Amino acid sequence: MGEQRDVTRSWELWERAQRVIPMATQTHSKAPREALRGLEPCFIERGQGCRLWDLDGNEYLDYRCSLGPITLGYRYPAVEQAVRAQLERGTVFSYATSLEVEVAEALVEMVPCAESCRFLRTGGEAMSAAIKLARAFTGRPRILKCGYHGWLTTMTGDGVPEAVRSVHTELPWGDPAPFAAILAEAGEQVAAITVAYAYSAGEGAGVFLRALRELADRYGCLLVFDEIVTGFRLANGGAQQRFGVVPDLAVFSKGMANGWPISVYCGRRDVMETVRRAVISSTFGGEATALAATRAALEVYRTHDVPGHLEAVGKLFQDGLNALFTQHRAPARSSGLPHLQQLVWQPSGRATAAELALRFEAELLRRGVIIYSITYTNFSHTAADIATTLERADAALATMAAAGLWD
Ligand SMILES: Cc1ncc(COP(=O)(O)O)c(C=O)c1O
Repeated sequence: MGEQRDVTRSWELWERAQRVIPMATQTHSKAPREALRGLEPCFIERGQGCRLWDLDGNEYLDYRCSLGPITLGYRYPAVEQAVRAQLERGTVFSYATSLEVEVAEALVEMVPCAESCRFLRTGGEAMSAAIKLARAFTGRPRILKCGYHGWLTTMTGDGVPEAVRSVHTELPWGDPAPFAAILAEAGEQVAAITVAYAYSAGEGAGVFLRALRELADRYGCLLVFDEIVTGFRLANGGAQQRFGVVPDLAVFSKGMANGWPISVYCGRRDVMETVRRAVISSTFGGEATALAATRAALEVYRTHDVPGHLEAVGKLFQDGLNALFTQHRAPARSSGLPHLQQLVWQPSGRATAAELALRFEAELLRRGVIIYSITYTNFSHTAADIATTLERADAALATMAAAGLWD
């Protein structure tokens, strides 16, 4: 079944790209892996619904969903039509458009913490804006950070002065005790606790988020939710709606326009108004095609239970995959909430967890399925698509078992 896929043109272009693009990618998680040379589609030509076609013309059922933004499906008609209509009018102008007001009003309706909103282009940029606002509002420098919030606030790696690093403390998900310890010692220095939902957390996430809410209240710092992945996926209003914990500020991006680049930072009006004295300004913040896409996508979210669909098809996928892992005695589990499940392999004694994960991806790619360590479903995945995917996963696991990758 599809074992003779040819991705030659993709890998030739990949070689060309290396010469003019450092690392040959803009998004590190999209970089093809050397171990999957000859299998991984480095370049995508087009998408439709839950399917992708690569540069060599191979078709795939896709569960990467562009790493999150595709919640409705590639080329979702209502969103695409809205963008085409906006193109007839233009993209950026010398003043704002009414779209900015309409989309802000729609978000205020949908997002529990949102009393007012401001737009930017990328998730990381909006998280940086939220952090700047929190510092301006509280007059405090330190940030307690839990999870990835984009490259601008990533303190690992080169290029970060010690003075900047020293005011960001990275803490793990799940245990409020280390947050409480720092706050007890230096609470008057902490502007905000920022947190992104951890994929493996599942239903238990609410307990941790509530503990962070209480700590923020006790020490007078702000609670900022990074809803870049969770917004319009776990619930329209993100983790705050799903788990009933309302932050002071939140950032949404990936799902809000089903693939157009836009982000929003939103929250308490008194905090948001601080933007008058903290400079946060962007030429393309109000770009109109992304806002038109957002308006159309929000209307779909308002009138259809998209998170419910993502959960239902995600559950079919998760339960089916876990049953196959058991059946084939494969040391793997899909955990977390079905809309945003995490695939975790354990070492088998014959192969490391990383080797098994990579081989599973390889066997699925051979069979026309693109997955990732995080599985994203979209509104265009049907039960039949999941059934086809599970048949292919069954064959992939049978091949791995026959290769003696575990006992
Ligand atoms: C939870 C989370 N926050 C922030 C970001 C950064 O968003 P962007 O890449 O749009 O800057 C990402 C990106 O993957 C993310 O997953």
